[in-house]
Amino acid sequence: MELRADCSPAAISRLLAPFPSGAFLFGLTSVHWREAWKYGERAFRYCNHDVGHAIGSARIAAATLGWKMALLDGADQNQTARVLGTHRVDDFSGVEPEHPDCLAVIWPVEAEARASSSSRENQNLPLFLEEAAVTGVAVGPWHGKANELSREHGVHWDVIDQVAEASWKTSLEHPIVSLAGTPIVPPETLHASRTTDDAAAIIRQRRSAVSFDGRTSISAATFFHILQRVMPRVERPQLQRPMPWDVLPWDPAIHLMLFVHRIEGLEAGLYMLARDPKKLPLLQQSMNPELEWTSAPGCPNDLPLFWLLQGNAQRLAAQVSCQQGIAGDSAFSLGMLAEFEGRLRQGGAWWYPRLFWEAGVVGQVLYLEAEAAGVRGTGIGCFFDDPVHEVVGIKDLSIQSLYHFTVGGPVDDQRLMTLPPYHHLQHE
Ligand SMILES: Cc1cc2nc3c(=O)[nH]c(=O)nc-3n(C[C@H](O)[C@H](O)[C@H](O)COP(=O)(O)O)c2cc1C
Repeated sequence: MELRADCSPAAISRLLAPFPSGAFLFGLTSVHWREAWKYGERAFRYCNHDVGHAIGSARIAAATLGWKMALLDGADQNQTARVLGTHRVDDFSGVEPEHPDCLAVIWPVEAEARASSSSRENQNLPLFLEEAAVTGVAVGPWHGKANELSREHGVHWDVIDQVAEASWKTSLEHPIVSLAGTPIVPPETLHASRTTDDAAAIIRQRRSAVSFDGRTSISAATFFHILQRVMPRVERPQLQRPMPWDVLPWDPAIHLMLFVHRIEGLEAGLYMLARDPKKLPLLQQSMNPELEWTSAPGCPNDLPLFWLLQGNAQRLAAQVSCQQGIAGDSAFSLGMLAEFEGRLRQGGAWWYPRLFWEAGVVGQVLYLEAEAAGVRGTGIGCFFDDPVHEVVGIKDLSIQSLYHFTVGGPVDDQRLMTLPPYHHLQHE
């Protein structure tokens, strides 16, 4: 941890004044080179998946402490840069640049309760920052120079810079959400029936499966439970949605195309989960009209899960996931289908990274739910999107697969060792 800027207490107070007492800001940046050296132009997408995972991790960690969190998505990206110091070109001279991604506010629930009982006007939470308050902290003074990550860069992927620029958020909005009626004890924390200790154990034990056994199944009840956890309950106001979905100030754009391989009590085949039930017509219109949208047998009433095709989809799932066996040897795998062209045309190109953030949060919830269910998950960033779209007859850009995921019985790689966090520092 390093001190980047010595902002005056008055400047910090001014920045945080509109938020509940005890609030602080949390921001994320990406060094695209960290992915580009290996994955080339796919790096922009992968960095934004990672931003989504990090947003989900932070929201869930905050919840274990009884804190809340919301993205300050009204801010423009220049403000995000100035708060995070990535605008300071000289601090990055000659080294890999850092891209400002997002800012969020985190606040303790008790402070919110006090605020709502003391004054009505504090019952609103702004999801933006005052320009003058941003300027107040951006003057610094700043400290530190960025480290160089690699001496040699080989190929420079211009397209990453182009897409970063094209999706730069220049618009400033002033969205406000209501704190009123937000549950003091959230009714649906990630593991409502478990204690924080259990959540911490699950969070710490989470790893990606490198291989699956091709045998382990999970019950339909467990499968439905996992899917319930990725439902944002869009009919509720933002801060009343189940954690971690209360962090994202938009209606869900990601739906799941599921390859069911080994779920007891459910036929193998292809299923679809509409994370926003209102979007069912859009999904249906974008896909092959001959698909049958039968409600999945035994599925809870409030879960919009549909059975589209019957059959063994193990080979197909692996094929469309860059021939990776992990997509077929699991209990189930899935493609995250985004409402794509409509969102981008309506909202602007700055929505592009946000679609990946949402996909990343879905991935983070699936990772933890898999652990809680006694199985394991793996994010799959490598897949062939056109063949994925062909599976359900998507012909245009209305829907686009952005991320895949797989969950099943892991086969441990004995060469991997697990050490406590910061183990290397304990011996210095
Ligand atoms: C966005 C994203 C994409 C990933 N894509 C793949 C993939 O295509 N194939 C794979 O085997 N693992 C994939 N992974 C898993 C990573 O390799 C793994 O998360 C990373 O090595 C860190 O290990 P851990 O998850 O056990 O902490 C992906 C992970 C993320 C977050």
